[in-house]
Amino acid sequence: MAFRNRVLARAGHIESIRFSRTGVRMQEKRVALVTGANQGIGLQVAKDLAAEGLTVLVGSRDLAKGEAAAAAIEGGARAIQIDVTDRASIAAAAARIREEIGRLDVLVNNAAITHTGWMAGKTMQDYSEATRPSVVSLDEMRAVWETNVFGVLAVTQAMLPLLRESEAARIVNVSSGVGSLTQASDPAYPYRSIFGPVYPASKTALNALTVAMAIELEPAGIKVNAACPGYTKTNLNNYSGTQTVEEGAREPVRLALLGPDGPTGTFSNSAGPLPW
Ligand SMILES: NC(=O)c1ccc[n+]([C@@H]2O[C@H](COP(=O)([O-])OP(=O)(O)OC[C@H]3O[C@@H](n4cnc5c(N)ncnc54)[C@H](OP(=O)(O)O)[C@@H]3O)[C@@H](O)[C@H]2O)c1
Repeated sequence: MAFRNRVLARAGHIESIRFSRTGVRMQEKRVALVTGANQGIGLQVAKDLAAEGLTVLVGSRDLAKGEAAAAAIEGGARAIQIDVTDRASIAAAAARIREEIGRLDVLVNNAAITHTGWMAGKTMQDYSEATRPSVVSLDEMRAVWETNVFGVLAVTQAMLPLLRESEAARIVNVSSGVGSLTQASDPAYPYRSIFGPVYPASKTALNALTVAMAIELEPAGIKVNAACPGYTKTNLNNYSGTQTVEEGAREPVRLALLGPDGPTGTFSNSAGPLPW
């Protein structure tokens, strides 16, 4: 255990206080970081984890939006600036958590994009046609993967030193059923026609990262799982989803709160396991 327990006599009573590796006073509550938590499913995950008694760090690339979101969360929540495509921002967030809070137990890699901005006013059909392998812009594919795939790995690497100090660390990668190769290969799957190299394949790659992380981190007791929220009404799909954010947050939150007997290296939605 990298941190040590100290017992201090204070004003006539004895208080148990934990200190982190660097001597920072650690809070006793479990701490969760949710990326992209200023809106949508991430915000609801943050609300639900705060309601479960965790201190929640509301990750937001725009600090003001994160602060507004954190202020609306009952229980312990505070904003933290983190742009998952910006190494300096990620490093600063990790340093701030280390210095100001001293612990991290749960990481929810939620932030993601489907496009770089050109989709406004376009339909799902337009998206699917513009992102087919034969015509897709490689710059567009790189930009989306930078957030959805490399951003997840970069944030995870930066937070791992803190997570390794937790007694029961959990990592949840917010994925999507549209990234399932098994489902995309099934002619009966309703979203088969939108399977393409940009957003869907970024989630396939995220699923691969999930398995790789789970394999490496299992001996350390860190559980890593991928959750599909389901088709949820958010900014990501111009609010065309059929589920509420409360429903969408259910599976990521369940995986964030897994007990010692919970699984690692899985892919699921609120109805159960999904095929890779
Ligand atoms: N909605 C669905 O139907 C659905 C289905 C399956 C999977 N998912 C997954 O669920 C997760 C949440 O999506 P959502 O539907 O809640 O979408 P959303 O409302 O658009 O929220 C996405 C969040 O990610 C943030 N973000 C984007 N790029 C970022 C970056 N570089 N750094 C930090 N934050 C960044 C956004 O910040 P800004 O506010 O600054 O843009 C926003 O807070 C995503 O992983 C998505 O792929 C959603």
